Amino acid sequence: MGEALDIANAIPKNSDITIKGTDDYSEISNSKLIVIAASTGIYLKSRNEMVEAQVEMIKNIGKNIKEKCSSPLTLIVSNPVDVLTYYFQKETNLPRTKVMGIASSLDTSRFRLQLSKSLQIRNSQISDAIVLGEHGDSMVPIFSKVKINGDLGSKRIDPKIKDKVWSEIRDYWIALRNYKSRSQFGIAKNTFDVIEAITKNQEISIPASVMLDGEYEEKDVCMGVPVTINENGISKIQEIDLDQSEQNLFKLSANTIRENIKSI
Ligand code: LAC
Repeated sequence: MGEALDIANAIPKNSDITIKGTDDYSEISNSKLIVIAASTGIYLKSRNEMVEAQVEMIKNIGKNIKEKCSSPLTLIVSNPVDVLTYYFQKETNLPRTKVMGIASSLDTSRFRLQLSKSLQIRNSQISDAIVLGEHGDSMVPIFSKVKINGDLGSKRIDPKIKDKVWSEIRDYWIALRNYKSRSQFGIAKNTFDVIEAITKNQEISIPASVMLDGEYEEKDVCMGVPVTINENGISKIQEIDLDQSEQNLFKLSANTIRENIKSI
């Protein structure tokens, strides 16, 4: 309620946006797009720390949305995002193309940033840097696709730099916690990018967590893969070539998420 009262004062003049705090699901029954960022608490050491409580929460949210809303597109931001995207999709039985976990695009922005710092080049000189898999310790930065000034750059990146960048993006959220209680603006911007693409039907291609059904030889698991999103949700799951090491790490990440799913 407090957030709504506060954000309402940011409504631009000549705007018809309305903002209202509520715990009555009937108030969102006509929503075309729902973003879930709820949490039962603040995790400290791992995003999986409160997984039982988080899954119970997301199942309850899913049950209410299934009963009161008609098939909205849903963005899951709550953690552990891959596990919660899975249980939300199962609880609502929404088409898998309508349920997207927002996280790997955040990891990807961190990948670009830390690469630019380590290579002492501008962020804009890096393209096609992408992180797939779990939004967690088993995430897989795809170095083989990184381009620097438009040319494949992986071979030019010292293995020591790769290891350094990898641990920096994996532990970025922990480093950030040394200064503030939780990340807000990075995840908000990455969520906004998807909201804007959906609401303005501007196609966007990012990595996001989605239920796989054979893509990358994985089934019945949600994890970060490259997707194209438009006003109808996920229009395409892109199957990019991964080198052998990346394929092995991707499978390891899938199995890590499955273990977390089964731990409930
Ligand atoms: C982070 C949260 C959004 O990585 O999982 O900052």
